[in-house]
This record gives sequence, C-alpha cells and structure tokens, in this order.
Amino acid sequence: MKGVVFTEFMELVESRMGLDMLDRIITEAELPNDGAYTSVGTYDHAELVRLVMALSNATGMPIPALIHLFGQHLFQRFSESYPMLFQDAHGVFDFLSRIDDVIHVEVRKLYPDAELPSLPCSRLSPNELELLYSSPRGFADLAAGLIDGCIAHYKEPIQVTRTDLAKEGNLHRTRFHLQIEPA
Ligand code: HEM
Repeated sequence: MKGVVFTEFMELVESRMGLDMLDRIITEAELPNDGAYTSVGTYDHAELVRLVMALSNATGMPIPALIHLFGQHLFQRFSESYPMLFQDAHGVFDFLSRIDDVIHVEVRKLYPDAELPSLPCSRLSPNELELLYSSPRGFADLAAGLIDGCIAHYKEPIQVTRTDLAKEGNLHRTRFHLQIEPA
C-alpha cells in the first residue's frame, strides 16, 4: 500500500485525537519502521490494519467504523490534493463512474506500483448506480467511506445500500447500490 495512505491516516489521527494518541498506536502496532512512512514508498497493507487495530483498542471504536471514517477523510483530502481529477466530473454518479477508467488510471501513473481495487459501475436508471468493489485486500469499508465522502463533497441526496458478496477466488467483493432520493 502506498505511503500516502499511511501519512493521511496519521494526519487524521493526529488532527482528531492528538499526537499522544498517534504515538501510542505507533508503539502498540509494533511497526517495522517505527511509523516513518514517505508518501511515495510502498508498505505492507497489513501495517495499516495493525495501526487501525491499535486505534480501535485505544478508543473502543470498532475497526469497520474507523476504516469508514478514514475513507471519508481520505476523499476530502484527495479533493484538495488532486483538483485536476475533479475538473470534468459533475456529480457523484459521474465521478464514481470515472474511478476505474480515469481516476485510478491517473493514480497508477503517479504511483506505478499502487495496489488498486477494481470498481466497475453500471447505471441502472437515471437515479440508480451500482458499483462493484473487488480486491484481494478486502477494504470494502474504505470504499464505503470514500463513497460517503464523495456524496458529502457533491452534497447530493443519495442513499447507499451495501451488500457483501461471497468471495470469488482470492477476491473480496461488495456491491454498492446508490439511489438518488426522490425530492
Ligand atoms: C480523487 C479520488 C481518488 C484517488 C486520488 C484515489 C487514490 C487511491 C490511492 C493512492 C490508493 C492506494 C493504492 C495503494 O495503496 O497502493 C487507492 C486505493 C483504494 N481506492 Fe482509490 N482513489 C480515489 C477515489 C476512490 C473512490 C471514490 C473509491 C471508492 C469506491 C476508491 C476506492 C479505493 C479503495 C477501496 C482502495 C484500497 C485498495 C483496495 O481495496 O484494493 N478510491 N486509491
């Protein structure tokens, strides 16, 4: 996993819960590099899971809720760091439909060794979009947080229904059904 994900996670913990909490979870997670990450480096995603577990122990918040919160935060940070990715997307359905073919493609140009999920979208009707998350890493909670972050960014009245599907080989799969709420 790219270091940018780790540095953003640490930024979230420090800004919301303080530097003491950040120091505490770095110690507790027993990380190989004592928590020194650079945004362009690549690290084992299990280290992020260990940090989240340590944060869950320290705060009493469940792991899925913490990963979801992190996804929301990450989307907001991405919207500040990569404004060019937002230029041509006008709204949630438009933006999400471009992740697989445009956005993560641009991410791969920046970080050739990025480990990205597959996120194909189908437009079921003008008011409905289905997004299928699949990845060997099982970060559907992160995807859920990013989707909610995207909805918050565009301020659209969209309801999300999540269905975790059976694993296919080594792939974790989750379906997200998004529906624009009638006015
Ligand atoms: C501006 C928008 C976005 C940018 C710049 C971006 C960038 C990235 C980057 C840098 C990674 C890490 C790759 C690695 O660690 O090797 C990543 C992973 C990921 N992205 Fe995106 N992303 C964006 C939007 C989204 C959205 C909206 C979703 C939600 C569906 C999403 C879902 C994920 C997930 C779940 C991962 C974790 C890896 C995995 O599950 O396999 N991304 N993305």
